[in-house]
Amino acid sequence: MPKPLRVAVLISGRGSNLQALIAAQREGRLPIEIALVASNKVAAQGLRHAEAAGIPTLALDPRSIPDRASYDAELFRRITAYAPDLLVLAGFMRVLDGTVLAPWAGRIINIHPSLLPKYPGLHTHQRAIEAGDHLHGASVHFVTAELDGGPLLACCEIAIQPGDDPDSLAARLLPQEHALLCHCVQWIAEGRVELRDDGVYFDGLPLEHPLRVAAWGSEPVGCP
Ligand code: GRF
Repeated sequence: MPKPLRVAVLISGRGSNLQALIAAQREGRLPIEIALVASNKVAAQGLRHAEAAGIPTLALDPRSIPDRASYDAELFRRITAYAPDLLVLAGFMRVLDGTVLAPWAGRIINIHPSLLPKYPGLHTHQRAIEAGDHLHGASVHFVTAELDGGPLLACCEIAIQPGDDPDSLAARLLPQEHALLCHCVQWIAEGRVELRDDGVYFDGLPLEHPLRVAAWGSEPVGCP
Protein backbone atom coordinates (compact mmCIF):
# COMPACT_ATOMS: atom_id res chain seq x y z
CA MET A 1 0.00 0.00 0.00
CA PRO A 2 1.68 3.32 -1.02
CA LYS A 3 1.83 6.05 1.61
CA PRO A 4 -1.14 8.44 1.40
CA LEU A 5 -0.39 11.84 -0.08
CA ARG A 6 0.00 14.48 2.62
CA VAL A 7 -2.26 17.41 1.76
CA ALA A 8 -2.41 20.87 3.30
CA VAL A 9 -5.64 22.76 2.56
CA LEU A 10 -5.65 26.56 2.62
CA ILE A 11 -8.97 28.28 3.28
CA SER A 12 -10.38 31.69 4.15
CA GLY A 13 -14.01 31.01 5.00
CA ARG A 14 -16.84 28.50 4.99
CA GLY A 15 -14.75 25.47 4.04
CA SER A 16 -17.34 23.42 2.18
CA ASN A 17 -14.72 22.22 -0.30
CA LEU A 18 -12.57 21.22 2.65
CA GLN A 19 -15.52 19.30 4.11
CA ALA A 20 -15.96 17.48 0.80
CA LEU A 21 -12.30 16.41 0.91
CA ILE A 22 -12.61 15.30 4.55
CA ALA A 23 -15.75 13.28 3.76
CA ALA A 24 -14.23 11.63 0.68
CA GLN A 25 -11.08 10.76 2.60
CA ARG A 26 -13.05 9.26 5.48
CA GLU A 27 -15.15 7.19 3.11
CA GLY A 28 -11.93 5.69 1.76
CA ARG A 29 -12.27 7.34 -1.63
CA LEU A 30 -9.19 9.53 -1.43
CA PRO A 31 -5.72 8.10 -0.71
CA ILE A 32 -4.68 11.20 1.21
CA GLU A 33 -3.99 12.39 4.71
CA ILE A 34 -5.05 15.97 5.41
CA ALA A 35 -1.97 17.02 7.35
CA LEU A 36 -3.02 20.61 7.96
CA VAL A 37 -5.73 23.19 7.36
CA ALA A 38 -4.30 26.70 7.23
CA SER A 39 -6.11 30.01 7.05
CA ASN A 40 -5.45 33.72 6.81
CA LYS A 41 -8.72 34.27 8.73
CA VAL A 42 -8.70 33.32 12.38
CA ALA A 43 -12.52 33.13 12.41
CA ALA A 44 -12.85 30.99 9.27
CA GLN A 45 -15.64 28.46 9.73
CA GLY A 46 -13.60 25.86 7.91
CA LEU A 47 -11.06 25.85 10.74
CA ARG A 48 -13.84 24.63 13.05
CA HIS A 49 -14.64 21.79 10.62
CA ALA A 50 -10.97 20.81 10.64
CA GLU A 51 -10.80 20.87 14.44
CA ALA A 52 -13.93 18.74 14.67
CA ALA A 53 -12.26 16.24 12.33
CA GLY A 54 -9.10 16.18 14.44
CA ILE A 55 -6.98 17.83 11.74
CA PRO A 56 -4.18 20.20 12.81
CA THR A 57 -4.98 23.84 12.08
CA LEU A 58 -2.96 26.98 11.61
CA ALA A 59 -4.36 30.52 11.50
CA LEU A 60 -2.05 33.38 10.71
CA ASP A 61 -3.61 36.84 10.80
CA PRO A 62 -2.09 39.12 8.14
CA ARG A 63 -2.36 42.03 10.56
CA SER A 64 0.37 40.37 12.62
CA ILE A 65 2.79 40.69 9.67
CA PRO A 66 1.74 43.69 7.56
CA ASP A 67 4.40 43.28 4.87
CA ARG A 68 2.83 40.98 2.25
CA ALA A 69 5.96 39.14 1.18
CA SER A 70 7.02 38.58 4.79
CA TYR A 71 3.54 37.30 5.67
CA ASP A 72 3.54 34.83 2.78
CA ALA A 73 7.05 33.65 3.66
CA GLU A 74 6.04 33.04 7.29
CA LEU A 75 2.81 31.31 6.31
CA PHE A 76 4.65 28.98 3.96
CA ARG A 77 7.44 28.39 6.48
CA ARG A 78 4.83 27.17 8.98
CA ILE A 79 2.94 25.11 6.39
CA THR A 80 6.17 23.46 5.21
CA ALA A 81 6.81 22.28 8.79
CA TYR A 82 3.92 19.82 8.29
CA ALA A 83 5.75 18.31 5.29
CA PRO A 84 2.83 18.34 2.86
CA ASP A 85 3.20 16.83 -0.62
CA LEU A 86 0.37 18.91 -2.09
CA LEU A 87 -1.16 22.29 -1.25
CA VAL A 88 -4.84 22.80 -2.10
CA LEU A 89 -6.23 26.33 -2.16
CA ALA A 90 -9.95 25.86 -1.48
CA GLY A 91 -11.54 29.26 -1.07
CA PHE A 92 -8.25 30.86 -0.05
CA MET A 93 -8.92 34.53 -0.81
CA ARG A 94 -5.42 35.91 -0.95
CA VAL A 95 -2.99 36.44 -3.78
CA LEU A 96 0.30 34.73 -2.95
CA ASP A 97 3.76 36.06 -3.60
CA GLY A 98 5.60 34.39 -6.48
CA THR A 99 8.64 33.78 -4.30
CA VAL A 100 6.80 31.39 -2.01
CA LEU A 101 5.03 29.70 -4.91
CA ALA A 102 8.15 28.85 -6.91
CA PRO A 103 9.28 25.86 -4.79
CA TRP A 104 5.72 24.45 -4.99
CA ALA A 105 5.42 24.52 -8.77
CA GLY A 106 3.33 21.52 -9.82
CA ARG A 107 2.37 20.78 -6.22
CA ILE A 108 -0.18 23.53 -5.53
CA ILE A 109 -3.68 23.71 -6.99
CA ASN A 110 -6.60 26.11 -6.70
CA ILE A 111 -10.33 25.76 -7.28
CA HIS A 112 -11.95 28.76 -8.93
CA PRO A 113 -15.68 29.24 -9.58
CA SER A 114 -15.61 29.99 -13.32
CA LEU A 115 -14.74 28.28 -16.56
CA LEU A 116 -11.22 29.66 -16.74
CA PRO A 117 -9.72 31.48 -18.57
CA LYS A 118 -13.05 33.32 -18.30
CA TYR A 119 -13.55 35.47 -15.22
CA PRO A 120 -10.44 35.29 -13.09
CA GLY A 121 -10.85 37.19 -9.82
CA LEU A 122 -14.07 37.97 -7.98
CA HIS A 123 -17.84 38.02 -8.70
CA THR A 124 -17.61 35.23 -11.25
CA HIS A 125 -21.29 34.18 -11.08
CA GLN A 126 -22.52 37.71 -11.61
CA ARG A 127 -20.10 38.27 -14.48
CA ALA A 128 -21.19 35.07 -16.24
CA ILE A 129 -24.88 36.05 -15.96
CA GLU A 130 -24.24 39.63 -17.11
CA ALA A 131 -22.28 38.38 -20.11
CA GLY A 132 -25.30 36.30 -21.18
CA ASP A 133 -23.34 33.05 -20.96
CA HIS A 134 -25.24 29.79 -21.30
CA LEU A 135 -22.59 27.76 -19.52
CA HIS A 136 -20.87 28.36 -16.22
CA GLY A 137 -18.69 26.20 -14.04
CA ALA A 138 -15.60 25.80 -11.93
CA SER A 139 -11.97 25.05 -12.73
CA VAL A 140 -9.02 23.49 -10.97
CA HIS A 141 -5.63 24.77 -12.02
CA PHE A 142 -2.03 24.70 -10.91
CA VAL A 143 -1.13 27.89 -9.11
CA THR A 144 1.36 30.36 -10.55
CA ALA A 145 2.04 33.99 -9.71
CA GLU A 146 -0.67 34.99 -12.23
CA LEU A 147 -4.06 35.30 -10.47
CA ASP A 148 -6.25 32.31 -11.44
CA GLY A 149 -3.98 31.95 -14.45
CA GLY A 150 -1.95 28.75 -14.02
CA PRO A 151 -2.21 25.62 -16.20
CA LEU A 152 -5.68 24.06 -16.14
CA LEU A 153 -6.28 20.52 -14.96
CA ALA A 154 -10.07 20.07 -14.99
CA CYS A 155 -13.42 21.79 -14.95
CA CYS A 156 -17.10 21.09 -14.35
CA GLU A 157 -19.94 22.77 -16.23
CA ILE A 158 -23.50 23.73 -15.40
CA ALA A 159 -26.15 25.46 -17.51
CA ILE A 160 -27.19 28.99 -16.61
CA GLN A 161 -30.97 28.98 -16.41
CA PRO A 162 -33.37 31.84 -17.13
CA GLY A 163 -33.99 33.66 -13.85
CA ASP A 164 -30.68 32.61 -12.30
CA ASP A 165 -29.08 35.15 -10.00
CA PRO A 166 -25.54 34.92 -8.60
CA ASP A 167 -26.77 33.15 -5.46
CA SER A 168 -28.84 30.51 -7.22
CA LEU A 169 -26.02 29.86 -9.67
CA ALA A 170 -23.43 29.58 -6.90
CA ALA A 171 -25.67 27.20 -4.94
CA ARG A 172 -26.18 24.92 -7.96
CA LEU A 173 -22.50 24.95 -8.81
CA LEU A 174 -21.20 24.18 -5.32
CA PRO A 175 -21.84 20.40 -5.23
CA GLN A 176 -20.23 20.12 -8.67
CA GLU A 177 -17.22 22.03 -7.37
CA HIS A 178 -16.88 19.58 -4.52
CA ALA A 179 -16.86 16.60 -6.90
CA LEU A 180 -14.40 18.39 -9.19
CA LEU A 181 -11.95 19.11 -6.41
CA CYS A 182 -12.17 15.60 -4.96
CA HIS A 183 -11.51 14.10 -8.40
CA CYS A 184 -8.49 16.30 -9.00
CA VAL A 185 -6.97 15.50 -5.61
CA GLN A 186 -7.66 11.81 -6.20
CA TRP A 187 -5.89 11.82 -9.58
CA ILE A 188 -2.91 13.66 -8.16
CA ALA A 189 -2.74 11.27 -5.18
CA GLU A 190 -2.83 8.34 -7.59
CA GLY A 191 0.08 9.81 -9.52
CA ARG A 192 -1.95 10.29 -12.72
CA VAL A 193 -1.25 14.03 -13.07
CA GLU A 194 2.01 15.80 -13.76
CA LEU A 195 2.83 19.42 -14.49
CA ARG A 196 5.73 19.61 -16.95
CA ASP A 197 7.38 22.61 -18.60
CA ASP A 198 5.04 22.29 -21.59
CA GLY A 199 1.79 21.76 -19.71
CA VAL A 200 -0.32 19.32 -17.74
CA TYR A 201 -0.04 15.58 -18.40
CA PHE A 202 -2.68 13.01 -17.47
CA ASP A 203 -1.79 9.32 -17.49
CA GLY A 204 1.46 10.31 -19.24
CA LEU A 205 -0.20 12.16 -22.12
CA PRO A 206 -0.49 15.94 -22.62
CA LEU A 207 -3.87 17.52 -21.92
CA GLU A 208 -5.06 19.58 -24.88
CA HIS A 209 -8.03 20.84 -22.86
CA PRO A 210 -8.93 20.63 -19.20
CA LEU A 211 -10.63 17.37 -18.24
CA ARG A 212 -14.36 17.61 -17.68
CA VAL A 213 -15.72 16.09 -14.51
CA ALA A 214 -19.27 14.83 -14.17
CA ALA A 215 -20.49 12.92 -11.13
CA TRP A 216 -18.17 11.80 -8.38
CA GLY A 217 -16.69 8.41 -9.16
CA SER A 218 -16.89 8.74 -12.94
CA GLU A 219 -13.87 8.80 -15.22
CA PRO A 220 -13.06 12.24 -16.66
CA VAL A 221 -14.31 13.21 -20.09
CA GLY A 222 -11.69 14.36 -22.57
CA CYS A 223 -8.87 12.04 -21.50
CA PRO A 224 -6.00 12.18 -23.98
C1 GRF B 1 -15.72 28.28 -3.75
O1 GRF B 1 -16.71 28.74 -4.61
C2 GRF B 1 -14.40 28.22 -4.46
O2 GRF B 1 -14.49 27.87 -5.79
C3 GRF B 1 -13.93 29.66 -4.34
O3 GRF B 1 -14.35 30.06 -3.07
C4 GRF B 1 -15.46 29.28 -2.65
C5 GRF B 1 -15.08 28.64 -1.37
O4 GRF B 1 -16.14 27.95 -0.77
N1 GRF B 1 -12.52 29.76 -4.61
P1 GRF B 1 -15.87 27.05 0.49
O5 GRF B 1 -15.12 27.91 1.52
O6 GRF B 1 -15.07 25.86 0.08
O7 GRF B 1 -17.24 26.67 0.99
